Amino acid sequence: MKPLNEVLIKKNTKINPIWIMRQAGRYLPEFREIRKQNPDFINLCLNEVLASEITLQPLKRFDLDAAIIFSDILMLPYGLGQKVIFKKNFGPKLGELNLNEIAKIDEIDFIEKIHSVYKAIKKVNLDPILKNKNTIGFVGAPWTLLVYMINQQSPKKNLKVNFFKDEYLINRILLIIEKFLKVHIKNQIDNGANIIQIFDSWAGLLEKKDLPNYIYTPTLNLVNYVKSLNVPVICFPREIKDYKEFYEIVKPDAISIDYNVNPKEIVKNIKIPIQGGLDPKILLTDKKTLKKEALKYLEIFKDHPYIFNLGHGVLPETNPEMIDYLVKTVKEYK
Ligand code: CP3
Repeated sequence: MKPLNEVLIKKNTKINPIWIMRQAGRYLPEFREIRKQNPDFINLCLNEVLASEITLQPLKRFDLDAAIIFSDILMLPYGLGQKVIFKKNFGPKLGELNLNEIAKIDEIDFIEKIHSVYKAIKKVNLDPILKNKNTIGFVGAPWTLLVYMINQQSPKKNLKVNFFKDEYLINRILLIIEKFLKVHIKNQIDNGANIIQIFDSWAGLLEKKDLPNYIYTPTLNLVNYVKSLNVPVICFPREIKDYKEFYEIVKPDAISIDYNVNPKEIVKNIKIPIQGGLDPKILLTDKKTLKKEALKYLEIFKDHPYIFNLGHGVLPETNPEMIDYLVKTVKEYK
């Protein structure tokens, strides 16, 4: 069985597979080289030859246990016809959200716009380097996509004023997002994704009272949908106020934790496989500190099914040598 499946399905505590969020990205010179020639990020995601090449770049350097397809959560609003651009040193910028236009989009229009993502997954899966490794497909969670579609950029610490004002719009958009997320998940799986991760990067912005409406209910629907397709699903509700309640209600196959949460509390309270946690900033220090911090997580989770990963994406200024050292440290443990 593939290492991540050992943990997710068989709850094996004897191995600690490792992959890294944003493992295909700007900390790698070979990615930056391709990126330089391709200033339009969306077009790069839609180039199946380059997207599959970028997906495999980190696996050629490091002994990682899974590939995550090079794409973006914002391919969903793009597929729905909302304008999405990535501005240097700013992040994503989305166009005006037009409910009437979006409501007209059907599955065929959507797939036509982003079908190259599925072709890239298919291509990646043909590579022998992935024998015995998982291919992770992913989506943004409904809440996080709603945030980007209405806020039109990363919210940093706060949503724009009046974010919740138009309740009708919010509820309509949420349903549309959910419908097309299912289409997107199904097509990724049909083309070879064998784990799905749901990124809820902005879960931490919500008060506890709003969690059922915007996070638990829509995410549970998606988790149940992925399970119905017999594929394991990992949720990353970053900085959510209550990981325990999330897991009890949504019940994914694993939960990925951020670096602000106390792993000792997590191991005590959460009975399903855990992933991640290490602060990506630790990779900017030195090998001694990195080893100490990595071993801390490995020790805390030594009797718990655990997939090693970070508590958020690897930072662009990370030295690839530190990733190599981290992978080796995790592999040498046990
Ligand atoms: O290697 C992988 O993990 C797979 C590829 C991947 C990307 N984005 C590529 C990317 C994945 C899984 C994502 C998910 C994603 N995208 C999330 C959820 C995870 C998180 O970070 O919280 C979010 C919120 C986005 C939206 C997004 N995309 C933002 C906010 C940004 C700009 C911030 C930044 O890091 O520059 C992106 C751009 C992006 N997505 C890059 C990459 C490699 C950098 C693009 C570049 O080269 O300029």
